[in-house]
Amino acid sequence: MSRFWFVKFFSSVQKKPWYRNFFNDLIEELPRGERLLDVGTGPAKLLQILSREKNMECTGIDTNELMLEEARKELDGDAVALFCVKKDKPFPFEKNSFDHVALCNVLFNLKPETCDHLLEESLRVLKPTGKLFVLTPTGRGGFWKLSKKYFSWQNLSIYIWYAATRGRARAWTEKHYLESYVKEKGLSYTTREVFDGFAILEVIYGK
Ligand SMILES: C[S@@+](CC[C@H](N)C(=O)[O-])C[C@H]1O[C@@H](n2cnc3c(N)ncnc32)[C@H](O)[C@@H]1O
Repeated sequence: MSRFWFVKFFSSVQKKPWYRNFFNDLIEELPRGERLLDVGTGPAKLLQILSREKNMECTGIDTNELMLEEARKELDGDAVALFCVKKDKPFPFEKNSFDHVALCNVLFNLKPETCDHLLEESLRVLKPTGKLFVLTPTGRGGFWKLSKKYFSWQNLSIYIWYAATRGRARAWTEKHYLESYVKEKGLSYTTREVFDGFAILEVIYGK
């Protein structure tokens, strides 16, 4: 699939009912009205929801300009700031700029050095009182459970998402990458399964 069609496909997936369920626990944890940075925002569905429903002051960054073009179309007047960034370069923000930072569906696809760079930059721009949220598929559960929970004609793309992410997602979940990262840095950490066990929400705080 070309980059163009992948962006179109991913944008259409984000509009399906199941994708909202993927984000739900994270949305519930975020306080109203605060400043959020979404790293690897893609078509910015999370920011659209948070700006409309929780009045959050939202900023998204991504390395893929095509994704951001799609996001601009979808946002259509929502007050969300979007920036295209270069891989492995510092984020274009001062330290302690954001109340919270989100990394959804991003780290498990990347090499450890890129993960570490994104974590380091996310923590730099996060306020000392803030939280860094990492939402990742687990690759667990199986097609039967997926069907029992989410089958509908509107949700058929969940099968493609599950099959496409399962291998890397399981590797991420089993490696406990963030747990080791926070131990090394002396940070606090919580983890829990969300989205009926199809995703994991990891939270880093205590910078
Ligand atoms: C699978 S999409 C997830 C989009 C969105 N966060 C979501 O959960 O629906 C991953 C996104 O991360 C972006 N990305 C990959 N590497 C990145 C990096 N080093 N810095 C910023 N964004 C990156 C990709 O361009 C893509 O838009």
